Amino acid sequence: MAKSRPTTQASKSSPATCFRKWMLRAALFGILCVTCGWLDTIKEQWYVFDPPFLHELAQEAVVAFPNNPEGMIQHILTNLTTTYPQPSNTISLNTNSTEWVFNNAGGAMGAMYIIHASITEYLIIFGTPLGTEGHTGLHTADDYFHILVGEQWAFRPGALEMERYKPGDVHFLPRGTAKQYKMHEGCFAMEYARGWIPLMMPFGLADTFTSTLDVPTLYHTVRITAREMIKNILIGKI
Ligand SMILES: *[C@@H]1O[C@H](CO)[C@@H](O)[C@H](O)[C@H]1NC(C)=O
Ligand SMILES: *[C@@H]1O[C@H](CO)[C@@H](O)[C@H](O)[C@H]1NC(C)=O
Repeated sequence: MAKSRPTTQASKSSPATCFRKWMLRAALFGILCVTCGWLDTIKEQWYVFDPPFLHELAQEAVVAFPNNPEGMIQHILTNLTTTYPQPSNTISLNTNSTEWVFNNAGGAMGAMYIIHASITEYLIIFGTPLGTEGHTGLHTADDYFHILVGEQWAFRPGALEMERYKPGDVHFLPRGTAKQYKMHEGCFAMEYARGWIPLMMPFGLADTFTSTLDVPTLYHTVRITAREMIKNILIGKI
């Protein structure tokens, strides 16, 4: 014998209640949109790094240590820790240059060392001596990709010839744009992104869930990123 179903009287709401519920949801959604729009207009106040400064620094490193990524990284760190002595109340940097993790994103694979990560900026060294190729991702941040060693090639639909970036060049990818890119025969770059960094993370981690299933890498990526973001939040660097 089938038991009689419990009455669902309580969950049945009148059209008026239903209407109110949806109006409330729409209002909350509206408030959320306005808040996000407002936050987006004020994010610049938290930026510490200056793109022309970083470009100059990358070019200096390329000239001082041609074809020597290790030398360039040390040069960059020495400059940054002189410019922003650590511990600093302006910006927190990760000076442990042995802290590399794999990064799989958009089909490309390389390794990265996170020099700085906060809510509105990150600065990393990214690359691979093997070469890789993939989708840049469609991001909520402006991205400045400073080539240190090797070449990066890029292309967007409609272009019939590739863009070519060499050591000392910066490949600027404004937010909301995507390209196919290739680090043809191995390349290392200093990547600076400014904008809403946490929104970039799903792209940065998705390949781990759909492809590599590399849990230790996921663990270290999240651990290092969270640690750096918290260190910055604690000194008021958003
Ligand atoms: C750091 O690099 C910038 C850009 O190249 C340069 O202007 C500045 O003098 C450097 N600072 C130090 C302390 O080396
Ligand atoms: C630097 O990072 C490496 C690799 O994660 C770690 O083994 C080492 O303990 C770190 N060194 C310092 C001083 O934190």
